[in-house]
Order: sequence, then C-alpha cells, then structure tokens
Amino acid sequence: MRPLLIAGNWKMNKDLFETLAFLQGLRAYAQKHKEERVQIVVAPAYPFLLTAVDLLKDTPVKVAAQDVSSNEDGAFTGEVSASMLASLHLSFCIVGHSECRQYHSDTDDVINIKLQRVIKNGMKPIFCIGEKLEERQSGRTNEVLQRQLAIGLNEINLSAGKDLVIAYEPVWAIGTGQVATPQQAQEAQAFIRNFLLQKYGAEVADTVQILYGGSVKPDNIKEIILQPDIDGALIGGASLKLDLFTAMIDLAKEAVKIK
Ligand code: PGA
Repeated sequence: MRPLLIAGNWKMNKDLFETLAFLQGLRAYAQKHKEERVQIVVAPAYPFLLTAVDLLKDTPVKVAAQDVSSNEDGAFTGEVSASMLASLHLSFCIVGHSECRQYHSDTDDVINIKLQRVIKNGMKPIFCIGEKLEERQSGRTNEVLQRQLAIGLNEINLSAGKDLVIAYEPVWAIGTGQVATPQQAQEAQAFIRNFLLQKYGAEVADTVQILYGGSVKPDNIKEIILQPDIDGALIGGASLKLDLFTAMIDLAKEAVKIK
C-alpha cells in the first residue's frame, strides 16, 4: 500500500513567531510519531523554510516550499529558484497550486518547466491540478485534468514513481468549505491514476501518491483518505491550527490500519 501523506499548505499565513510556536508544537508531537505509513509535510512561507528544516530535522516531518520560479537564475527580482530551495535541503515543493494559476502567470506550460526544475534539483513536486466550478458543471472535469496532466508532465520521465506527488484540488472546493464528496474525489483520482498508467506504466501508477485537497478538516478527512486512489490530503485552512493538524494526522493513522 502507498503511504498516506498529510501536508499542510500555510499559504501567506503566520509570521516568524507564529511559525516558531507551531513548529515547536509539531516537533514535540512528531517526536512521538512512529507510524511510517503516515508521512507529514508542512509548507511555511519562504522566509521561514530554513528555520523549519532546522527545527524539524530530527523528526519525520518534511518541509515543502509553496512555489518556485520557472527561471533557473538571474535577473528575476522577487523570485526564488529551485536550486536555492534545494540548498535548504527541502524535500518537497508545491507546484501549480490553483492560487498560483489564478494570481500569477502559472500556465500549464510554465508549470511543466517548474516541475522539471524541482525534479532536476532533487526535490519532489506536489503537482496540483483541478477543475473550476463551471468546468465541473459543464461536464469537462476529465478533459481539464487530462490537459493539465498532459502538458504539466510533458517530457518528464518517471521511472520509479518516486519523483512526484499529485494533488487533486477542485478549485470550487478550495477555501470554500464545500468539500468534494469522497466519491467525486475518488472518481477524479482514479482518472488521474489511469493517466499515469497509460503514460508511465503500472509501476509508476501504483506508487505515485495522489492527494485530495479542498476544505479538508478533521470531520471529513477520514472518509476521503479511505478511498482507494486517495493517498492523503493537501490541507490549507485547517492546517493552520496545530490541534486540528495533529488531529488529522491521528485520523490518518487510524485510516492506514483499515485501508
Ligand atoms: P483549503 O485549501 O484546505 O483551505 O481548502 C487547500 C489548498 O489550497 O491546498
């Protein structure tokens, strides 16, 4: 079975002191975390990544960046390159989040370049895809996922399936409180796994973790992650409170026992 991954995407929240308070609490929790089939990831803002890596280094918790530049290096004021992130010993980098698609210039082609840079620099991308409300309502969910996957993964070779995590995040479910039903999420994620099967073969399709994201909370996480093609969750709002975040990790520990 694939391990479950519980990832907190903090977005533009928490200053240094709030970050430290959360991470010290998470560190204490994670020092007692022995369930290897449940992996924990946190994605604080850029300025605090090094502090996070340092504070969590003797725990199983891994640290992710929330985005990366599509450029390699040079005159790109305000941007952060994949090699800079890799030099912090980060394990993961979120790529293609719907907020970056909406507010920055993250087209499918740009996302493809970002994915290549992250993989080349030895980090694992958490590649976000998902349809908007009008796309779902007009029955185009699979078409959108197909396009995002085909362009995003263009010319990316995955041999062991260990280089990539995919997060299915329907845009209409992000930050809205309107979570997808477990069946809606499972259906989309089975489609994604089938894409991986066609493109890369069974070994890759069986090992890539596909997360669900969009209004995940302690009271809905378990039925979602119990679905066969859902291997964890990418959590925004509910990951900002330590007690909620650790409650969801505890629920994932219960889920792996019965999955
Ligand atoms: P949400 O965000 O849990 O607040 O809906 C999820 C995400 O954007 O990754």
